[in-house]
Parts: sequence; C-alpha cells; structure tokens
Amino acid sequence: MLQISKGGHVSNELAIEGAERLVSVATLANRTASVLEKLRDSARSARADERREPTFTITKAAELVGRTAAAIRDAEKDGRLPEPARTDNNRRERYTLAQLNDMRGVFGTRPYRSPEDPCCVVAVQNFKGGVGKSTVAVHLAQYLAIRGYRVALVDCDSQASATTLFGYVPDLDLDEDDTLYPFLREGERSSLDYALRKTHFDGLELIPANLRLFQSEYELAARMARESGALLDRLREGINSIADRFDVIVMDPPPALGAISLSVLRAANALVVPVPPTVMDFSSTAAFLSMLDETIEQLAERDLAPELQFLRFVASKVDENKSMQKELLNLMRTLFGHAMLRTPLKDSAEIDNATARLMTVYELDGPATSSSVRNRCLAYLDGVNAEIEVDIRSMWPSHQKRLRQEALA
Ligand SMILES: Nc1ncnc2c1ncn2[C@@H]1O[C@H](COP(=O)(O)OP(=O)(O)OP(=O)(O)O)[C@@H](O)[C@H]1O
Ligand SMILES: [Mg+2]
Repeated sequence: MLQISKGGHVSNELAIEGAERLVSVATLANRTASVLEKLRDSARSARADERREPTFTITKAAELVGRTAAAIRDAEKDGRLPEPARTDNNRRERYTLAQLNDMRGVFGTRPYRSPEDPCCVVAVQNFKGGVGKSTVAVHLAQYLAIRGYRVALVDCDSQASATTLFGYVPDLDLDEDDTLYPFLREGERSSLDYALRKTHFDGLELIPANLRLFQSEYELAARMARESGALLDRLREGINSIADRFDVIVMDPPPALGAISLSVLRAANALVVPVPPTVMDFSSTAAFLSMLDETIEQLAERDLAPELQFLRFVASKVDENKSMQKELLNLMRTLFGHAMLRTPLKDSAEIDNATARLMTVYELDGPATSSSVRNRCLAYLDGVNAEIEVDIRSMWPSHQKRLRQEALA
C-alpha cells in the first residue's frame, strides 16, 4: 500500500494537518469512492440504461427532418407515418429521435453519405488536458446524430469522460472487454464490432472506455520498442472494420502524446483542435502543432502519414469578459485564418451544470440554468457543430451539389 509522509517523502503513513492525524492513501481512495457513489446515486436517473432519449416539438422536428409541420401532419393522416401519441389533454407528444429518423425515411431526407464517399473519421485532439476535447467530441457526435447521420463515438481515453456522459460508471458498469483494449491487444479480434453499443441517441453508437484501457498505452509502447511502428495502424484497422456502417466516427483521445494518441492521429482523416484563448493553452497548442508536424513527418518516413481532409481549430471555453482572452482570440483568428472556426465555443454555465449531472446540453429538453443561458449555449454549440458538419459533407462527392444549392439558398 502506498503511503506518503507530510514532508512528501514516501513512508508508511500520509500526514494531513499534523503528524497525529495520519491517513493512508487507501483510506482517501475509499472515502473518495464513496462520495462519488453518493453523487452518482443522486444523479441516478442518469445511468446508461435509464437514460431518456432527446425529444422534439413538431416545429423543431419539421426543421430537423427538412419538411414542413403540415407535411408531417399530412403523412400522419394518410398513414405514411403512425398517428402521433397524445398527452392527457390531447396535445401531441414530443417526437423522439427514432421517430425523426423514421420521418426522414418516409420523406427521403436522410443525410447519409453515399457508399462511395469516405467515412469521416474525426479526432478531437490536443495533447493538452482540460481544453474541452471530450465536451466538443460528445456534443459533435450527438449533434450529428440529431441531424440524422449514422455516428460512432470512440472513447480512447482511459479517464473515460465521454463514456461517463452517456451514463456509465466506467469502472463499475464496464470491463476491459467492452473497450478498445482487446482489439489493441494483438490478434484477439478482427473487428471493433464487439465494442460498439447503442446509446439513448438513435443512430449514435459508442465504444466506451475505462481505466483498464491505460494498460494498452504500456503494452503498445513496449511492443513498439520491440516491433515496428506498424502497430500504430492497429486502431486504424479497427476503425476501418466498422467504417462502412457510419457516416462519421468521432474519436476522443487522451490528453497526452502516447501510443494511443499517435494511433488516433493515424486513424483520423480529419482533426478538430479545441484551444481555449489563454496563454497557457495557447502555448501548449504551439507545442501540440510542432509535435503534430514532427509526428506527421515520422509517420511519413514509415509511409504511415495521416491523410487529413480538414484541420480546424475551435476556440473553446471562451470568456470574452476577460480582455486578455479577447486579445488572444483575435490573435488566433489572424494566425489560423480559415482553419479557425468562426463560432467560438464560449464558456457556459449550461455546459458546466449539464456536466455536473453527467449529461449533455443536447440531451436535456430544458435548461440546466435558465432559458436565456441555455439558448445562448445552444447557439454556440450549434454554430461550432454546423461549421464542422459542412467540413464533413465537403469530404463527400455525393453532397457537393446539395452543398452548393444550400449556399445559394
Ligand atoms: N464551453 C464550456 N463551458 C463551460 N465548461 C466547459 C466548456 N468546455 C469544457 N468545459 C468543462 O471543462 C472541463 C474539461 O472539459 P473536457 O473534459 O471536455 O476537456 P478535455 O480536454 O476532454 O479534458 P481531458 O484532457 O482531461 O480529457 C469539464 O468540466 C467541462 O465540463
Ligand atoms: Mg477528455
């Protein structure tokens, strides 16, 4: 059992607030775990098997499906769509995402890519921790699912933030065989199909993570030291094994430059890089870019260069009340030019509060704060995601004509 003394050196006891009050690390771990348990119990409705799918009014459904509310009512009257469920006072129940997807089938408005178009494999990556990678990745995946795309979200981080946002307690509800781990271990599996699981967002599947995935980091590194760098292609092979079923695969990597992060870079054909406009995050991003450049060169030497279809920076956790952030944001816009998304993802109490309930803003039907805060937050999230959606569709020849028509509309 690890125990550390007050002075910081390792001994058999950890001193807190004086030498008499000695607490072992194991005791602290147990206490923390039990507090966590209580927090989870209080958010019990948020567990994976009890999650409610998001629902939509007929007006919102019409907008998302690409037809008018009258067209939906007509289809319900003439039997092309089922009669809508009614509340006790005879009001139309809100529609679920699964119902929206049925409507898209009836109206012929599914936005799927054609089988000839490449699946978009987008990694939300920055080697810096806490910049908003998981927040952006999960909200992007859910946004795309709401718009009717077939989406997979791959949690590549053993800290499992994305997995948690789907209602799982990663180390309680999941074991290592539910994660990428068996696939990354040599030869155990030939496809990642086993790890995909449905979520409460129709059309969105998740490959979850838990702490055991960290083991892969060591194993891959150890084997890479012995064998060739082709191991970095293992994750790419896994992604390719499921790619035909999806329009978009979103990857949420860990905040470090390790074997998994490198494998994610190799598997991705698009990158979204969240950067909060603070000096610390900005300087880490400079380091990320030079490491990215170095990595791409090293991969190229081994004929493993990632083929990026787009690279976009998103200003994340932006607080424009802070003058320094405003300055840095302007600097980033000048520096990154078109590679920077126009919409900043501002710091929002709505995201904070939703996360505290282990939920997302798209999943909640109402505000976790107030309507005005929620609406502003949705405007940033939708703005960021809509820009990325255009980048994704630009990868697909079958969408070119429609994209041009929409730009003219
Ligand atoms: N726009 C935002 N507004 C408010 N809070 C945010 C925003 N973006 C992220 N956060 C919060 O910041 C924290 C870190 O975000 P997140 O987990 O998405 O970062 P990350 O880059 O994935 O971190 P890690 O490197 O640990 O994987 C979370 O508590 C999240 O709720
Ligand atoms: Mg994360």
